[in-house]
Amino acid sequence: MAQNHSTPPVMPTTTSSELVQAQAELWCHTFAYLRSMALQSVIKIGIPTAIHRCGGAASLSDLQLALPAVPPSKWPRLLRLMKLLVVSGIFREDEAGVYCLTPVSRLLFTVLATSPFHFQASQRLPEWLKVEDDDAAAAETPFVMAHGARFFAYTARDLEFGALFNESMGADSRFVAEIFVRECGEVLAGVATLVDVGGARLLELPQAAANMPADGMVEFVVGDMMEFIPPADVVLLKFVLHNWSDQDCVRILKRSKEAVSTREPKGKVMIIDAVAGSAPSKEASEAQLLMDVCMMLLTTGEERDEERWHRLFLNAGFSRYNINPIFGSRSLIEVFP
Ligand SMILES: C[S@@+](CC[C@H](N)C(=O)[O-])C[C@H]1O[C@@H](n2cnc3c(N)ncnc32)[C@H](O)[C@@H]1O
Repeated sequence: MAQNHSTPPVMPTTTSSELVQAQAELWCHTFAYLRSMALQSVIKIGIPTAIHRCGGAASLSDLQLALPAVPPSKWPRLLRLMKLLVVSGIFREDEAGVYCLTPVSRLLFTVLATSPFHFQASQRLPEWLKVEDDDAAAAETPFVMAHGARFFAYTARDLEFGALFNESMGADSRFVAEIFVRECGEVLAGVATLVDVGGARLLELPQAAANMPADGMVEFVVGDMMEFIPPADVVLLKFVLHNWSDQDCVRILKRSKEAVSTREPKGKVMIIDAVAGSAPSKEASEAQLLMDVCMMLLTTGEERDEERWHRLFLNAGFSRYNINPIFGSRSLIEVFP
């Protein structure tokens, strides 16, 4: 008579060195947030600004002179944070112990200003993942759960937060503009008018447009891009569509198409956003994945791959598009009516 013996599964043998390596990797994942926190702290204390004012390189005594608010007893602790940030590539320390800015620290102000708000939202993620999508509006995003309002309503409600957010977006726009002019300024040849939608520049919600100076070249329009976008040769949507669901994106794209259709043949929509899965380096690819999770925390949007973008363009009635991956993790996407 046949007997049914169940054989115990064979456990793969893990060597000591694999275990030790695994534990080190686990520590790195567990404490990864401390890198952001260390960076946040040194920015608030003024280290990058102090190094910048010393011409991009500062010794410990330069820093102590520039930052008298840090008591002598705390400098050894602060230097421990700097050690972590040097290993992470944020700063460089030369053989003489002089701290230097790196290409990464030169861009510091483009991203971090709002991170405590992101962090509080991220702590609600496990709870949010257990709520059905169509349940209470109070759980639309982890950000709503943490702060009681949608992200762009919160920028209107908390003026300090709104100002910080607009400041970091402005810094990112200066970065993008520099690369844009260097790499593909010709795509704006012959363009006389451009609407920077949701750019705190030409068409914006009241809280973002309120503090903008008028200089004769630029006109600020308060309006809702879901309803109407002023006609122009180019509608620019930089870092906008990844904030919104597919349904909202199609609505914004339809308004954009109406705005540029009057200017054919030169009228077009220019999108600056990630095309997921097309990043040129491991860092750029990880940056896209992190930004995707960030969008999940803060908004109903996400980072989309080319197939998803293509579908949005078709649904909004566009005929063709062109992708130029010039910003590393982000691309310039031109869309034509
Ligand atoms: C992520 S920010 C991008 C800002 C800017 N384009 C940039 O890249 O620096 C999105 C912007 O969209 C604006 N916004 C949100 N909802 C909007 C709406 N319904 N109409 C117009 N602008 C809106 C926000 O105020 C915010 O400034």
